Amino acid sequence: MHTSILILNGPNLNMLGTRQPEVYGRETLSDIEHACRAHASWRGLEMDFRQSNSEGELVTWIQQAKGHYAGIIINAAAYTHTSVAILDALLAVELPTVEVHLSNIHQRDAFRHHSYVAKAARGMICGFGSHGYILAIDALSRLLGDPGVASA
Ligand code: DQA
Repeated sequence: MHTSILILNGPNLNMLGTRQPEVYGRETLSDIEHACRAHASWRGLEMDFRQSNSEGELVTWIQQAKGHYAGIIINAAAYTHTSVAILDALLAVELPTVEVHLSNIHQRDAFRHHSYVAKAARGMICGFGSHGYILAIDALSRLLGDPGVASA
């Protein structure tokens, strides 16, 4: 029985690669997905990786995660700073959640310093670019009891 995790990405992250590369780097979301897939597999985790520009679609995916995934990694992008709906969905499903951001949101505009997602997340990783996703997989894997190690 494999342990599955869900990695969710919010609005404008489909533009990575060309979107403000000085802030977000030159890797595309597809590059990040490939790196995550390889790392999750090495950790013994199955992974689904999704992106949406729609708040409602993200809320629906979080709701549907219950019973299908052991945990969630989320970069809610701009919805991080605005969405009580995403916070409520995360609180409702009660799955271990790791928040990730490419940039260091605390060094940026004041409106980016507050995260609604943080209230539902076990922890946040920000400022390490795409490597933050790899760190988030390691953190979630640890929270889930290192399934790869356990089944070795
Ligand atoms: C982001 C930071 C957010 O403030 C911003 O709206 C994003 C990306 C990040 O990964 O650094 O779209 O979540």
